[in-house]
Amino acid sequence: MSFTIAIDGPAGAGKSTAARLAAKNLSFIYVDTGAMYRAIALGLLRNGTDIENKSELTETLGKMEVSIRYVEGEQHVYLNGEDVSGLIRTERVSDMTSRSSAIPEVRAKLTSLQRELAARENVLMDGRDIGTMILPDADLKIYLTASVQTRARRRCLELTQKGEPCSLEEIEKDISERDYRDEHRETAPLRQAPDAVLLDTSDMTIEEVVAKIVSLAQGRMKS
Ligand code: DC
Repeated sequence: MSFTIAIDGPAGAGKSTAARLAAKNLSFIYVDTGAMYRAIALGLLRNGTDIENKSELTETLGKMEVSIRYVEGEQHVYLNGEDVSGLIRTERVSDMTSRSSAIPEVRAKLTSLQRELAARENVLMDGRDIGTMILPDADLKIYLTASVQTRARRRCLELTQKGEPCSLEEIEKDISERDYRDEHRETAPLRQAPDAVLLDTSDMTIEEVVAKIVSLAQGRMKS
């Protein structure tokens, strides 16, 4: 039997960095489900698909195959066999991901892939609906959050480090809008599972967040 950890929470709460490091520390496979939604969004953008048009969307989704592989311990995401890991972190893709991930057909396409991964290995999976929908019986659920201001500052820092321009005000607005969409969509809205441990990372360093996740996991594995 595999041990599963579900980490959910809004964008920029430090989820992916902390989750990746915690998974490494625990020797678990890290599954970044956001990357899968991003790969689909990239495909929709490339194809110029009108996502409001159901038949067009269904046809495009039918032609897309998303998979993940691990290269030197890092997750890479593939769209129809092409490694698109380096192309999915732009604001344009983020925006399309937030829209397209609200569509039930898009979510259905990724549900089985995510569940299959968790059935095979000890995984630490992060996303928005992992503890509530994908792995409702996860051995440990964590809801990781931080204030909008903290998250915007972190995102800005990331963009600046990549040499991309950043307006704190615009990023705060984008984050608030995306939160609203993620929390209010009909399908799999972003919600804390009742049995999830709440972790507010606003005043925590990444190292502190990682240590907390690892100690929670070790506690559960012993019991
Ligand atoms: O975690 P991220 O920033 O890479 O997520 C990108 C978008 O995908 C975000 O708008 C929420 C959505 N997402 C989702 O709906 N469900 C998931 N399990 C993971 C991400």
